[in-house]
Amino acid sequence: MRICCIGAGYVGGPTMAMIAAKCPHIRVDVVDLNAERIAAWNSADLPVYEPGLDDLVQGSRGKNLFFSTEVKAAIRDADIIFVSVNTPTKTFGVGAHKAADLRFVEAVARTIAEVADAPKIIVEKSTIPVRTAEAIKTILASSEKGLQHQVLSNPEFLAEGTAVADLTSPDRILIGGEQTLGGLAAIETLVSVYANWVPRERILTTNLWSSELSKLVANAFLAQRISSINSISALCEKTGADVDEVARAIGTDSRIGPKFLKSSVGFGGSCFQKDVLNLVYLCGHFGLPEVAAYWDQVILMNDWQKHRFAERVLRTLFNTVTGKRIGVLGFAFKKDTNDTRESAAIYVCKDLLEERASLSIYDPKVGSAQICKDLEIESGSPNVEFATSAAQAAAGAHALLVLTEWDEFRTLDFEAIYDSMVKPAWIFDGRSLLDHAKLRQIGFKVYSIGKPLPQEAAA
Ligand code: UDX
Ligand code: ADP
Repeated sequence: MRICCIGAGYVGGPTMAMIAAKCPHIRVDVVDLNAERIAAWNSADLPVYEPGLDDLVQGSRGKNLFFSTEVKAAIRDADIIFVSVNTPTKTFGVGAHKAADLRFVEAVARTIAEVADAPKIIVEKSTIPVRTAEAIKTILASSEKGLQHQVLSNPEFLAEGTAVADLTSPDRILIGGEQTLGGLAAIETLVSVYANWVPRERILTTNLWSSELSKLVANAFLAQRISSINSISALCEKTGADVDEVARAIGTDSRIGPKFLKSSVGFGGSCFQKDVLNLVYLCGHFGLPEVAAYWDQVILMNDWQKHRFAERVLRTLFNTVTGKRIGVLGFAFKKDTNDTRESAAIYVCKDLLEERASLSIYDPKVGSAQICKDLEIESGSPNVEFATSAAQAAAGAHALLVLTEWDEFRTLDFEAIYDSMVKPAWIFDGRSLLDHAKLRQIGFKVYSIGKPLPQEAAA
């Protein structure tokens, strides 16, 4: 059996590396139009940072795992074709800022229709709106070759930073397909691939639409929990309650559970916002405006949380940050990844730049070129400096903002940092990560999301 994966991104690369590692009898070709990305997958410096990924790729690369730009050849030779291309939110036209832009998926479907000379199993791996499989099938059917391809939905639930662990022992694998003889046979073929390492009872099979919708709904529920606890963080600050204590108290209720209740400066990442907006768009499209408004609120709350944090910094620093140096710790959307897509840090930094602050940004894995791109500034822009350590970002700053929960930030030499900062030295902890009692002992003024407001902070 041969597998090919179109799209060598955050999803395609790690997922295929895992399949190759667990199925040495299957040849896996990962292809992408982006030659630079493919070159990186073939180098020692992979384009995706994930703990454990280097070893995983090295174990199979050149044996049964290959990265190349030969998209058409890979399609021709494969029995199973995973489609793992990007599906960004549309920025123009009908459904702008809500609907998914499916042009990359469509392009792939057209290429498969053109190139395939035998029936294939085509697997949607990218997150896509419900009923995309229908569109793919229509395009495939429009080819005059009369081949009976099967389209399956197999959404990926891995989270960045823990991709290798998530792929090694997933909570579940979800495979949706047509409930016809051909569809069921295709589902069974894909089940047999995963069954090489995932217990059968964790492999769920459904109809096509349930599978497609489940991916959006899973992300919407997770995002909703974060927005819910973030809404409570604001109430905690006003009332003197502590959001981490509240989260622990409610999370021990086995019906609620402890996960995804960590209040933060706002969720980011390539999936949550996109998928919730997608759900909102779908509900609107199907004439369900009340349902759309309900889910839209998850996004509005997240936007509010990001702006609220920046505003807190501004107001606390005597309503002006113009020309003030502010150290920013963390730019990735979460720890253990170099991914900045939709990172809360982008929004917080932009708000502060708008107020003409002078930022000094440090992230252990995100480089200055990416940060410039995200902030839409030229490199060398006078208001943004790039530090090579947290201590350097803090030196001479009026305030230090913790925007990503990198482990290394917990154990910094805060005494030395305090000495190097302008007084009063403020720490704004957007992840409730640090030991606040200890920081206060050193002399810092501390604001942390969802904790009772310190007296000196603006009400
Ligand atoms: C998410 C889903 O978890 C995953 O199943 C799906 O396949 C892709 O989208 P990911 O975006 O990689 O994964 O990371 P996740 O761990 O879900 O975090 C998303 C954002 O929420 C991050 O910005 C994170 O910091 C934030 N978050 C997460 C919180 O603010 N609080 C929490 O309790 C959990
Ligand atoms: P994800 O997070 O979903 O994996 P990425 O943006 O990281 O998304 O990766 C998607 C990849 O798909 C990109 O590397 C892009 O170059 C690739 N891609 C998009 N369209 C095509 C196509 N028609 N053929 C091959 N690769 C494609």
